[in-house]
Amino acid sequence: MINYTEKIPNNIYLGRDRVLQRALEHWQPAYLSWWYDMGPNESHNFEVYLRTAISVEPDGWAQFGYVKMPEYRWGIFLQPRDEKRQVNFGTHKGQPAWQDVPGEYRSTLRRIIVTQGDTEPASVEQQRMLGMSCPSLYDLRNIFQVNVEEGRHLWAMVYLLHRYFGRDGREEAEALLARRSGDTDNPRILGAFNEPTPDWLAFYMFTFFTDRDGKFQLCALAESGFDPLSRTCRFMLTEEAHHMFVGETGVGRIIQRTCEVMKENKVDDPSDVRALGVIDLQTIQRYLNFHYSVTLDLYGSDVSSNAANYFTSGLKGRFRETKLEDDHQLHDALYPVSEVIGGKIITKNVPALTALNERLRDDYIEEIRDGVGRWQRVIDQAGIPFRLTLPHKGFHRAIGNFAGHFISPEGEVLTAEAWKKYEFEWLPSPEDHAFVQSLMSGRVAEPGKFANWIAPPLRGINNQPLNFEYVRFN
Ligand SMILES: [Fe+2]
Ligand SMILES: [Fe+2]
Repeated sequence: MINYTEKIPNNIYLGRDRVLQRALEHWQPAYLSWWYDMGPNESHNFEVYLRTAISVEPDGWAQFGYVKMPEYRWGIFLQPRDEKRQVNFGTHKGQPAWQDVPGEYRSTLRRIIVTQGDTEPASVEQQRMLGMSCPSLYDLRNIFQVNVEEGRHLWAMVYLLHRYFGRDGREEAEALLARRSGDTDNPRILGAFNEPTPDWLAFYMFTFFTDRDGKFQLCALAESGFDPLSRTCRFMLTEEAHHMFVGETGVGRIIQRTCEVMKENKVDDPSDVRALGVIDLQTIQRYLNFHYSVTLDLYGSDVSSNAANYFTSGLKGRFRETKLEDDHQLHDALYPVSEVIGGKIITKNVPALTALNERLRDDYIEEIRDGVGRWQRVIDQAGIPFRLTLPHKGFHRAIGNFAGHFISPEGEVLTAEAWKKYEFEWLPSPEDHAFVQSLMSGRVAEPGKFANWIAPPLRGINNQPLNFEYVRFN
C-alpha cells in the first residue's frame, strides 16, 4: 500500500531515509512552481475528477475523486521487489539484479534516466494551452489526467536521480525543471518533445504515437538489470496505458464523426467536408504522417554502438526480453536494417547487437499498425472508400539512415525538389493547421455536450455517465 500520511506519498519507506527525504522535500516546491508556471493554463482552481494511485497492485490501484491539480498527490511508487530477480541479458546475465548502480555504468545509467525523465514534463508543457479549447468536459478531464501522470513520471525519474546519483543526480533533477519544450536556448532533449501540440487532433495523435514510444522505452527499461529502474518503470507502464487509450479513442472518435457527417450529407470532397465543420480524412492522414515520422526518430540511429552497450551492460533490454527465446546476448545474431545507396533503399543484415534501436522501432511499428487498422474499420463500417496508410519508415526522417534523404510515403527515393512539391500533400500545411484550429476556438464546457467535430465516447470514466461533471470550474 501507499503511504499518504507523509508529505511525499510513497511505498518505499521514504521516512526511514532522512537524507533522501529532505532532498526530495527540497525539490518538491521547485516542482510545484514549475507546475504553476508550465502546467495546464488557468487550471489551478478547477476540481477535476481524477484517479490517484492507492496501491501498486495491478488491479484496483486507483481511486477516483475531485482534486485540484496542484493538490494532486504526486509521489514515488515502485512495483514490489522480487528477491529472486536476475540480470536477464547481456554479459552479466544470471547475476542477481543490481540494487545499487554498478560504478562502471554510473554515467550511462544517469544519461538514460535523464533522457527518459526529460520527456515527462516536456509533454505537459506542449499541451498546456489545450484546456482552453477542449471538445467536452470528458476530454478535458482526460488531458488533465494525462498531465498529472506525466508529472508523476517525472517524480519517478527524479527519485532515482536523488536516491542513486548523489550530487550529480540532484543537479540533473533541477535541470529537468529548467529546460522548456521548444525553447531555443534551453530546449528539451529529444526532437519530438520540442514540437508544438497546437490542437486536439495533434494531442490525440501525440498520445497515440508518442506516448506509445514512451511505452516501448519503458518496456525496455523495465527489463533493466538495475532493479530500482525496472520496478519504477513497471508501475509507470500501468499509467501509460490510459494515455494511449485517450489517443486511440480520440482519433477514432474524430474519424467516426467525420464519417457520419460525410454519409449524412453525401459529400466526399475535402472542402465540402470541412464546410460542415468536421476534419476531412485527408487532413487526418497528414497529421498521422507527421506524428508517426517524428516519433520514429525517437528510437535513434538504426545502427548504434550506444544501444549495443546498453544491452551488453544489462542496462536496457529488448521489448519483452524475458519472453524471447534466444541466448539474450546476441553473440552471432543478425538483424535487417535499411539504408539508401545510389538512390535506392537497400536492406542488409547487420549484427543484431548494433541494431537494437531498429528492432525496438519495428516492435513499435507492429503495434501502431494494429491501432491504425482499428481506425480503418471505423471508415470501412461507414462504407467510405478511403484508406488510412502508414507511410514508409524512411518518410520524413531526421535521425538514422534515412536522414537527409527525400523519401515519399510510398517509399520512393526522390530529389529534394520533387519531394518539396508534394510536402503539403503529405504533411499538414499551415492552412491545415489554421483550419483545425478554427474548429477549436473555444471550450465546450456543458456536461454531456461534445464539439461538432468529434463523436462522444462509448462510455464515461469509471462508469460515470457521459453527462457527468468531470471538471468543475469554480
Ligand atoms: Fe510518461
Ligand atoms: Fe504518457
